[in-house]
Amino acid sequence: MDLKSLKQKISTLKSESSALINSSNDKGSLEKTYKSYLGKSGEVNLLLKSLGSLPQEKRKEAGMLLNQLKSDIDNSYKDKTSELSKAENELRLGNQKIDISLPSASKADGSLHPVTQTINEISDFFESIGFGIESGPETETDYYNFEALNVPEDHPAKDMHDTFYLKESGLLRTHTSPVQIRTMENKNPPHRIICPGKVFRKDSDLTHTPMFHQIEGLVVEEGASFAQLKGLLNDFLEDFFGREVELRFRPSYFPFTEPSAEVDIKWNKSWLEVLGCGMVHPNVLEMVGVDAKKYSGFAFGLGVERMAMLKYDIPDLRLFFENDYRFLKQF
Ligand code: PHE
Repeated sequence: MDLKSLKQKISTLKSESSALINSSNDKGSLEKTYKSYLGKSGEVNLLLKSLGSLPQEKRKEAGMLLNQLKSDIDNSYKDKTSELSKAENELRLGNQKIDISLPSASKADGSLHPVTQTINEISDFFESIGFGIESGPETETDYYNFEALNVPEDHPAKDMHDTFYLKESGLLRTHTSPVQIRTMENKNPPHRIICPGKVFRKDSDLTHTPMFHQIEGLVVEEGASFAQLKGLLNDFLEDFFGREVELRFRPSYFPFTEPSAEVDIKWNKSWLEVLGCGMVHPNVLEMVGVDAKKYSGFAFGLGVERMAMLKYDIPDLRLFFENDYRFLKQF
């Protein structure tokens, strides 16, 4: 090869490579084009290798021309690379654009669980007539859950409560009645309190869940009578259901009340049990150091889920615990 044809070749390569590089649409094809010129076995390298066939005195000029070609191709490769990067970047930014004029996704308002709402409604009534609200621990000792409530060791009444006993000691309270004891231990009479809270029993079927809620009521004062208890429960149930109610007090048994009764409400022509109650047993008053000759008391306990089921016509107890949004949002 002579210098003249080398120059021609160089000028063809220059225009050809620049055209090819500039028309590359993506980095992959740009890279390929670049390598076909400047790669190990690219066109420019082949020419460099053929320099040896030129006469000695022409080699320097030819070398310079080839180096020039090399840097020309390099430059247009770099220009094109940055052009492609810029385009890629713009495309990505374009896709990421946030349209701040779009309306936001509406967020659903939460509401109180129907059990909480029912506890609140009942608490409101009793607070409005001067009752305080007390609470106690959900894990209890045998003493507070049974013994102080006049249920001695081995008393068959313990079988009424399917108790969850804790590994070390103690138990999950089976009713809210232990709060009666704690309240009377801590303060002097008179007492007018209710205590809402969770209770636990080994019971699970269509109408029982191992955890449910109760509200305990306790009044201890001079002259507290069964007549007052009846009047109070009547007022409460009429307030809760928002209408006149027909009640039936059925004699019953609780170790911590004497006499004891269960209260039924007339519901669609049949009687439905809604709560247990009675006059606080003198043994209980004595256990906590209340003078049973001076003071008398009455107490009652009701199931919150049961009351809510009646009031809101809820057919299945399990609905309270499944947290199905379609159910909860109705409240
Ligand atoms: N503690 C009783 C129960 O869980 C209810 C009750 C409370 C009865 C207070 C009488 C007085 O069944």
